[in-house]
Amino acid sequence: TTGMGKLLVTGGAGFIGSNFVHYVLRNTEHTVTVLDAFTYAGNRASLEGLPSERLTIVDGDIGDAALVDSLVSAHDVVVHYAAESHNDNSLHDPRPFLDTNVVGTFTLIEAARRHDKRFHHISTDEVYGDLELDDPARFTETTPYNPSSPYSSTKAASDLLVRAWVRSFGLRATISNCSNNYGPYQHVEKFIPRQITNVLQGQRPKLYGSGQNVRDWIHADDHSSAVLAIIDAGVIGDTYLIGADGEKDNRSVVELILENLGQPADAYDLVADRPGHDMRYAIDSTKLRTELGWLPRYSDFAEGLTATIDWYRGNRSWWEPQKAAAEARYAIQAS
Ligand code: NAD
Ligand code: DAU
Repeated sequence: TTGMGKLLVTGGAGFIGSNFVHYVLRNTEHTVTVLDAFTYAGNRASLEGLPSERLTIVDGDIGDAALVDSLVSAHDVVVHYAAESHNDNSLHDPRPFLDTNVVGTFTLIEAARRHDKRFHHISTDEVYGDLELDDPARFTETTPYNPSSPYSSTKAASDLLVRAWVRSFGLRATISNCSNNYGPYQHVEKFIPRQITNVLQGQRPKLYGSGQNVRDWIHADDHSSAVLAIIDAGVIGDTYLIGADGEKDNRSVVELILENLGQPADAYDLVADRPGHDMRYAIDSTKLRTELGWLPRYSDFAEGLTATIDWYRGNRSWWEPQKAAAEARYAIQAS
């Protein structure tokens, strides 16, 4: 990335946001302000050890219009990660997803428009719905929106708000829709960390339904490099799909985790399926690769997964405090 700027990173204490902050401070000259509400998903420990002269952390809500206005006015670029992010939670209590994902995004783009600031909106491939297992098609920038869950429908709504603000008000915004991320600092409610930490605690992994569902995995650092490329050289008003050709079915992922941790590959349980469970996601990232010259660095999923397992092994103090609460939420949802 060329030059330096002041980035306001919303949700920078969450999984992907904190990986982005680490990546930016390691690879660019930018300074970063994190705006994060420190919900159950936000964690100060994910930002420890970073250079304090280049990182400011603000504890606040993206729905707080006065706070958002003053922060946006004082920065060059807003990179918007903050969201309620977990499908299972959205099926049991959708309201916070409306508040943060829809009204929170609205609050941010209103401030960005008032102060004419560059805005990058982080979104998900789930806005496109799902694909059949045997469908040769993958999602592209022109795939129609067809979200399935309260989570993905609120993300779709936020994408459409950003698009409308570009067209109606000339907001200088770009959007990226990325596939499933893995890597360090991911909350233990999510599939890969939940199963790794289950095994590390002597519990069996839990596969929803038949375990045949496919996700298209990308390392969080590859997501970060793509976002920087779009902020640098993306066309205002455009959408970019981010993916690293990492399709894997859930059963294979669980088997890899078990083998890695010295357990029999079949030492998992099949449990009740997620209602409305999307079968398959798959990203065609040709546009990002050809127009912006982006390439993923982590092309070997098994290798990236091994590194991630090692991280959870070596950082028990990061995840142990959240593990019991996350499993208690699953127990309530199942009852
Ligand atoms: P996460 O749940 O780990 O982190 C979300 C962060 O946002 C937390 O730090 C939380 O405290 C903060 N936050 C929540 N509500 C807030 C509010 N009202 N105001 C301020 N901060 C608030 O989520 P994640 O997995 O890191 O996802 C980050 C973004 O990336 C989301 O927009 C998500 O839709 C998108 N995304 C995620 C994936 C994935 O695989 N996890 C893939 C593609 C896109
Ligand atoms: O595609 C991008 C999306 O990926 C992001 O927008 C979301 O924020 C992120 O949470 C993720 O959504 P998924 O629903 O795909 O991720 P999750 O980790 O919840 O589940 C991954 C797959 O694993 C999915 O098919 C459900 C399954 N699963 C999940 C859990 C928690 C299990 O089989 N067992 C589990 O215990």
